[in-house]
Amino acid sequence: MLDFARIPAHVALVMDGNGRWAAKRGLPRLSGHNAGMAAMKKIVERASQLGVRHLTVYAFSTENWKRGGDEVSGIFRLLILYVDRELAELHGNNVKVHILGDYGKLPPDAVASLEKSLETTKGNTGMQFNIALNYGSRLEILRGARALAEKVASGRMDADGIDEAAMSDSLYTAGMPDPDLVIRTSGERRLSNFLLWQSAYSEFVFSDALWPDFGPDEFDRAIEEYQGRARRFGGR
Ligand code: FPP
Repeated sequence: MLDFARIPAHVALVMDGNGRWAAKRGLPRLSGHNAGMAAMKKIVERASQLGVRHLTVYAFSTENWKRGGDEVSGIFRLLILYVDRELAELHGNNVKVHILGDYGKLPPDAVASLEKSLETTKGNTGMQFNIALNYGSRLEILRGARALAEKVASGRMDADGIDEAAMSDSLYTAGMPDPDLVIRTSGERRLSNFLLWQSAYSEFVFSDALWPDFGPDEFDRAIEEYQGRARRFGGR
């Protein structure tokens, strides 16, 4: 049974398996992403209902540009469709949209759509929905390190001031709690350049379900598994 008093504050998701889901049905990869988008919508609703404070999804990595141009542009079209269809409901549910990653490099219509979602929901106080887009954790850490180095070089900061808090504050996730739980679907057990710094003490739950098949029941089960773990943060 889910313990509603111990819902993780921050859940991060690696939504893997859309391509295999489509291949199993003889469908194009984009049909898998379309089904993945529908799955994402349901998980956002469930997480918000459960009282998760931050839900972070890995939607497009800095490495995903290597995929065929049609697949890449198709994913961005789906993203625009998602915002068009869901923004009113997200806003109605008091969800605040936030983007992690260098999303300015996405096609201009996708950037405009994302900015509309940021603007519309900026005052909301419910769950924060973090969409990682053109996100890579190593690059995020490098950007943060450079920003700190510039502060030191210009005399605005001492090198001694570069501590864990300063580093955390220089990442895309500044001000957010670290993820308590990272879920990856499709049976793969890798982090794939996602939240490397932030997941130092996260619990990991791996599901064999392909992402489009990962529904609210699987999400609840992952949280139950998390609740059954003893977190020690390096202590005894
Ligand atoms: C991984 O599956 C999924 C992605 C790279 C894209 C994630 C996109 C969505 C869930 C839908 C669109 C929603 C937004 C917000 C853009 P994969 O293609 O790597 O699957 P495979 O490993 O089976 O090939």
